[in-house]
Amino acid sequence: EDLITLLLSTLDLNGTIADTKGLRLPNQDAAVDQTTVRGALSSLQSRQMVDYKPLEREHLELTAEGQALATDGSHEAKVFNAVPSGPEGITVAELQQQLGPAAKIGQGKALAHKWLRFEQGRLTRLVDTIRDETQLDLQAIGRTGALPADRSPTLVKELLKRKLVTKIKSVSYTVVKGPEFALTVTKPATDITADLLQSGEWKSRPFKAYNFDAVGIQPPSGHLHPLMKVREEFRAIFFEMGFVEMPTNKFVESSFWNFDALFQPQQHPARDLQDTFFLRDPASTSTLPADLVDKVCEVHSKGGYGSIGYRYPWSPAEAEKLLLRTHTTAVSSYMLSLLARQQPFQPAKYFSIDRVFRNETLDATHLAEFHQVEGVIADRNITLGDLIGFMNIFFRKMGINNLRFKPAYNPYTEPSLEIFSWHEGFQKWVEIGNSGMFRPELLRPLGMDPDVRVIAWGLSLERPTMIKYGIDNIRELMGHKVDLGMIQSNPICRLDKKMGKELLEEPV
Ligand code: PHE
Repeated sequence: EDLITLLLSTLDLNGTIADTKGLRLPNQDAAVDQTTVRGALSSLQSRQMVDYKPLEREHLELTAEGQALATDGSHEAKVFNAVPSGPEGITVAELQQQLGPAAKIGQGKALAHKWLRFEQGRLTRLVDTIRDETQLDLQAIGRTGALPADRSPTLVKELLKRKLVTKIKSVSYTVVKGPEFALTVTKPATDITADLLQSGEWKSRPFKAYNFDAVGIQPPSGHLHPLMKVREEFRAIFFEMGFVEMPTNKFVESSFWNFDALFQPQQHPARDLQDTFFLRDPASTSTLPADLVDKVCEVHSKGGYGSIGYRYPWSPAEAEKLLLRTHTTAVSSYMLSLLARQQPFQPAKYFSIDRVFRNETLDATHLAEFHQVEGVIADRNITLGDLIGFMNIFFRKMGINNLRFKPAYNPYTEPSLEIFSWHEGFQKWVEIGNSGMFRPELLRPLGMDPDVRVIAWGLSLERPTMIKYGIDNIRELMGHKVDLGMIQSNPICRLDKKMGKELLEEPV
C-alpha cells in the first residue's frame, strides 16, 4: 500500500523513476526491498498504470577474511611489518612462528612487490615504508561495493581468487508512467452491474481481464429446460425416421441463402427492417457462390424453367446483406445446393432444430427469437400426397393425431399447406406448422435434376412445448422472465406419448 503510493507519487512528481534502488519509504531508513518493489510494479503494469524495466548490476562484497584484512592490513603488509629494519632481518621460521599461516602468503607478495629480499635464509627490508594497496582496495570495496575506477580491473579477479571478495548480483527497476497512469489504484471491475450501466461508469472503469483458464464453478445439478426436452423428442423422431441433422450453428446468414435462393423477391415485406434484423458491422458478405448468384439473378429477373420470374432488376448487393436468419429454411436452401452439386443425385432427408430471429412486436405469443423445427425430404417424383402422409406420421409420433391442412402461400413453396391440429383444451383448431413443395424456381437454379421434388415443413418448437407443458405466455418459457423454479420442478420427462402397437392401432 505505502509502497504503491510512494511509486505513484514519485512518478507524478518526477515523471520517471530512474532507479528504484534510491527509494525510501517515509519514516524508514532502509532502502525498500526490490522484490517487493517488483511485485508492486507488476501489479501496476497489469493495469497499464506504469511500465518498468529491470536494471541488473553486480557489486562486490567483502568476505569475512576480506573484512579482517580491510581492518588489520594485508598479509604482505603484516609480513613487511614483522621484518625488523636492520640488515640482520628475520628468518622464515621466526616469521612463521610470529604470523602463522599468513606468513607464507604474505611473504611471496612482499617479495614480488620488492619490499623484501630473501638471502641466506633471512628476509631483510628493501624499502623503509610501504603503501598497503590491498588494504586500501578492500576498504574501498567495503565502502562502495566496487574497486575505484583508477585501479586495474584484473585486481578484482585476483581478489576473487584470494576469496577476499565475492560478486553479488542485484536488480532494481527503472519506471515510467503507463497509459492508464493515475495517483490511486481503482480496483478493476469484474462484472457489469446495473449500477455501472446506469451511471455510465462502465465506459471509463477498467475491467479485469477475463481469465479463460479459470475452471468454472461446478453447478450443484442441472435441469433441462422444457424446450430442450421437446427438442430431444423431435430429434429422436427424426433420427428414427432416418433423417440427418443439418449444421445450424451459424445464426448470421446472408440474405442470399435466407431469401434470394428461396425465390423470395427483394421487395418482399419480410425483408423490411421491421421484420428482419440486419447486421451493421460487418453489414455484408463477399463469399457467395458466383455461379449460383448468376442463376438466382436470372430466375428472379427473367424467369426460366417454365416460370416468367418476377421481372425486376435483381441486385447482388441486396443478396450480400448479412442478417440474423429469420428461418432455418436458410440452412435448408444451402444444404440443397450442396446436395444438387453431388452427382449422381442421392435422395436425402434433413432436419434441424435451432434458433431464428425476427423483428417482432413482443406479446404473449411472439418473441424476437424462437426455435424452428425444420424437415426436408428430397427424392425423385414425390408428391403432395407424400407430404400429407408424412405429416400425419410425424405428428402422430409426437402424440398429435388430428391434423387438417389448409392451402397457404410461401414464396418458396407451391403448393403450400398450413397444418392445423385440434386442441382439446382450447376446443379449436390451432396452427402447428407450415409446409409445402419447394418451387422449381428454387431447385433448378441450384442445379437439381428436373424430376427431383423436395417437400419441406417448419414449425416452432415453442408452440408444442407450451401446449404440452401448459404454459400460455411465451415469456414464461423464454427470456428474462422465466422462473427457474418452473424448470427445476418439471419432471424429467412426460409420460403422455403412445408407443409402438398402441400408436399403430390408432386411426390416422
Ligand atoms: N420457413 C417457414 C417459416 O418460417 C416454414 C417452412 C419451411 C415452410 C419449409 C415451408 C417449407 O414459417
